[in-house]
Amino acid sequence: MGPLADLHRKRRVTEPHPQLKGIGTVSTASLEIPEIQPSPRIQSFLSGAKQLLIGGQWRNAASGETFPVFNPATGETIAKVAAGDAVDIDAAVRAARAVFDDPKHAWNRMTPSQRGRIIWKIGDLLLENLEEFAELESLDNGKPVGVAQVADVPLSADIFHYMAGWATKIEGNTIPISVPYAPRAEFHAFTLREPIGVVGQIIPWNFPLLMAAWKLGPVLATGNTVVLKPAEQTPLTALRLGELIQEAGVPDGVVNIVTGFGETAGAPLAAHEGVDKIAFTGSTEVGKMIVQAAGSNLKKVTLELGGKSPNIVFKDNENLDATIAGAASAIFFNHGQCCCAGSRLYVEQAVFDDVVSGVAEAARKIKLGPGLAKGTEMGPLVSDEQLQRVTGYLNAGQEAGANIVAGGQQRGDRGYFVSPTVIQDTREDMSIVREEIFGPVVVVDPFEDIEEIITRSNDTPYGLAAGIWTRDISKAHRVARRLRAGTVWVNCYNIFDSAMPFGGYKQSGWGREMGHEVLDLYTETKAVCIGL
Ligand code: NAI
Ligand code: MG
Repeated sequence: MGPLADLHRKRRVTEPHPQLKGIGTVSTASLEIPEIQPSPRIQSFLSGAKQLLIGGQWRNAASGETFPVFNPATGETIAKVAAGDAVDIDAAVRAARAVFDDPKHAWNRMTPSQRGRIIWKIGDLLLENLEEFAELESLDNGKPVGVAQVADVPLSADIFHYMAGWATKIEGNTIPISVPYAPRAEFHAFTLREPIGVVGQIIPWNFPLLMAAWKLGPVLATGNTVVLKPAEQTPLTALRLGELIQEAGVPDGVVNIVTGFGETAGAPLAAHEGVDKIAFTGSTEVGKMIVQAAGSNLKKVTLELGGKSPNIVFKDNENLDATIAGAASAIFFNHGQCCCAGSRLYVEQAVFDDVVSGVAEAARKIKLGPGLAKGTEMGPLVSDEQLQRVTGYLNAGQEAGANIVAGGQQRGDRGYFVSPTVIQDTREDMSIVREEIFGPVVVVDPFEDIEEIITRSNDTPYGLAAGIWTRDISKAHRVARRLRAGTVWVNCYNIFDSAMPFGGYKQSGWGREMGHEVLDLYTETKAVCIGL
């Protein structure tokens, strides 16, 4: 328990961000929050026992403990979920191991084509149940149900459809070799691409279903087995997805789902010696702990971490209104709870005032409300912890002398609502400029010189994404090459596709999700050399 105890200690020191609490005062403005009942279908799902999926069986945590899941629009408890801990993680890893290590198991005997068809079926089932998943996601996470309907659920289905096609296309190479000390011998050398083994996956709460899909799709396409730990704030759609995975015909024990807290379920998964690879999405702080925990058996690690992405608007815009709308949605989409949020908006001086007032106006117009309410454009933040964190940054920014152009307030006296916020007059050393806020808060600053803005954009420990707005094709390409980020969007933002790799430079992570790039990170390459 040595390393685990160490993780516990570290978590206690860093949460809940005491340095940000209690400075200044973010005021609270009123917000009418209508009472909304979920549909009968969702109510019945919520009322049932929410258990762990281990070895194909739904069961309670070994301890019998549960934890509450909250509706972030009201703070009320909507479900009780099994609180898995190290004992359950161990059982799940053993179940995944037993499947992987048994060459006669149905999963290992299945042809790639059969595997592909099952993965495809998961995508189909998600689309068939789109409305239900969107409602559940909205209730659990707070995002507008309309957004979940057009983005979260279809994108999740698509990654399964995309990965289904890869199952039959994971190929090695034949390699002509020239062994200097065996000049006259003949060889046949080739590579095999094999699954890594038991994968542990730990995901966050900002896109609960989509993060599960990004993670499980490649696991299944490459023939690994897995233990997935959803975020404690939003475990519900992953559990419902577990039911669809069974319905699609994935054999028992291939996908195991253990709900629980980071410290008590995530940490033992990351440290488990029966796990061959760990894939994590979440904070950079916990990402570093995952790396340490993985040292126990040197399991492979991939990480998708935080960001503080620059979004650069040049003055040569053909349609400034479209750019303003794009810059606003770059930060306000998903309430700014995006690792790639365009949270540093840099605007060329000549159009600075126009862009800032445009984005501020867009911010003021956004209709806040519960995700399930008609007309809601932005829901609550996911949790009280995030509310404290985001308002803590707003306080810190104002204390340091920055000025709020729009928003800057907590909204309503229940639920976790924050106004979309635009802040100017910042300095590069302020925490609101340097650190990931993970809320609907953008800092805006003017620039005059292209070299200056490239340097400032790259002056961050992160490197997840960046945006460029210009009609000058040469400038767009030149700046895109110079930005140290895993994704660069030009004249668009937050465009995701299953075929496009996503991941970070620098402290934004290790490895990539999606595209064929992710498959390399779920396979081992075996070189086979045959003397003829
Ligand atoms: P977190 O990194 O603590 O949580 C993400 C996942 O890691 C959850 O499943 C959690 O249970 C698990 N976890 C937590 N501690 C762990 C540990 N010691 N060992 C193993 N797993 C652990 O993020 P949190 O606390 O929810 O949010 C804090 C900040 O992290 C946010 O304000 C945001 O800045 C950042 N974040 C970034 C995300 C991204 O997509 N890159 C997603 C969520 C949060
Ligand atoms: Mg945390």
